[in-house]
Amino acid sequence: MTQPVPTLTLCKKSDVPEDEAIQIEKDDLVLAVYHVDGEFFVTDDLCTHGPGSLSQGYLDGHVIECDFHAGCFDIRSGEVVTPPCMIPIKTYKVTEDPDDVVIEIPRD
Ligand code: FES
Repeated sequence: MTQPVPTLTLCKKSDVPEDEAIQIEKDDLVLAVYHVDGEFFVTDDLCTHGPGSLSQGYLDGHVIECDFHAGCFDIRSGEVVTPPCMIPIKTYKVTEDPDDVVIEIPRD
């Protein structure tokens, strides 16, 4: 029998303004939580290119621009959109929940 994937509640959906990102520290994770068109997305907060905090960046639709060197990622897939970033950012699956932003924590 397969075990259910562990989940982690990050914040209230109402904590994240529309078209913005906030930083959430939970357990040993530092994450960026984004709110776009009523949907929520979660990535690691630390840019893969350097010390940039993506929750401090500029969100344009589903693209987050790091405010350090202007590299961009697609927050849905984590793929790099604009260099100098080369390594995709880690994304987390957001589960269905009426009030909270809840992610699945895959077992490695
Ligand atoms: Fe994010 Fe360089 S640290 S683009």
